[in-house]
Amino acid sequence: MQTFIQNIPKAELHVHLEGTLEPELSFSLAAKNGVDLDYKTPEELIAAYDFYDLPSFLKIYYAAMNVLVDEDDFYQLTYAYLKKASEQNTIYAELFFDPQAHTSRGVSFDTVITGIHNAQVAAEQNLGIKSQLILCFLRDMSAESAMEHLELAFPYQDWIVGVGLDSDERNNPPIKFAKVFAKAKEKGLKLTMHCDVNQLNTLVHIEQCIEQIEVDRIDHGVNALESEMLCSLIKNKNLGLTVCPVSNQFVVQSLTSNEVHDMLEKDLLVTINSDDPAYFRAYLNENLLALQKEGDFSQAQIITLVENAFKVAWLDEDLKQAYL
Ligand code: ADE
Ligand code: ZN
Repeated sequence: MQTFIQNIPKAELHVHLEGTLEPELSFSLAAKNGVDLDYKTPEELIAAYDFYDLPSFLKIYYAAMNVLVDEDDFYQLTYAYLKKASEQNTIYAELFFDPQAHTSRGVSFDTVITGIHNAQVAAEQNLGIKSQLILCFLRDMSAESAMEHLELAFPYQDWIVGVGLDSDERNNPPIKFAKVFAKAKEKGLKLTMHCDVNQLNTLVHIEQCIEQIEVDRIDHGVNALESEMLCSLIKNKNLGLTVCPVSNQFVVQSLTSNEVHDMLEKDLLVTINSDDPAYFRAYLNENLLALQKEGDFSQAQIITLVENAFKVAWLDEDLKQAYL
């Protein structure tokens, strides 16, 4: 099964670039930029990872970003992920980035996006892996800040395929960002939002995403299974769900394989993704393999999960067909 999973050409639709920051790269950037890390070795840093819910993860995730300072740091971060993905036979990726986590530290939007974009171009040329960028707003910051960052992105619109919403979901419902997402849609950008597993008011958040924001995809969205009405909406609108098994395990102590089976049975367009692979210590192949082991998925079901990712990818139809 391991070789089978390795050999399938795959797409990944839910990966945070900042969540691909490997400890070794952290140490090398920290040394270069004169940043203190509190740990002596990458192993010590990994040993300090202690995630049991979304806030406990986000605290460590944001603290680690201090090592990302100049354009080349963002280039290295992005290129390293794309190289790793390409080695796993991922041939297409949609990449989230969190500009507000950098501008709030004094790093300019231009520095961040130019470093990322140049790495995407180089990786496509050198490794053959295609990728597109999704600008994520931090939902625990204000709607005004999100709108300012959307406007900062306008001059770079050719480099961005869509917008997303991530970070701490508690008391930060989708509707808080209705105007920002409406503006993004008006500009021709695709829309997605996180509805992480087992969050407060998750069913209300999923319904808002679909009915009020009119998203094109939902990130995670596992709890939708608790509502026949939400499942029907997701199915009728052909909305992709980007499920992240190893990420879910930190919150619900399961790779949510039963839920993935249920989604397949309901013919929902469920896809498998790594979320923050450097932190959860699992890239796409490791997610697929762990899920397969827990849920005893057949090879045909694994292929369906991979094909779903190409089906709901934000690619032109002819390119999509070439991949499928
Ligand atoms: N930022 C990075 N990973 C995230 C996740 N799984 N949920 C919400 N925000 C995130
Ligand atoms: Zn995520």
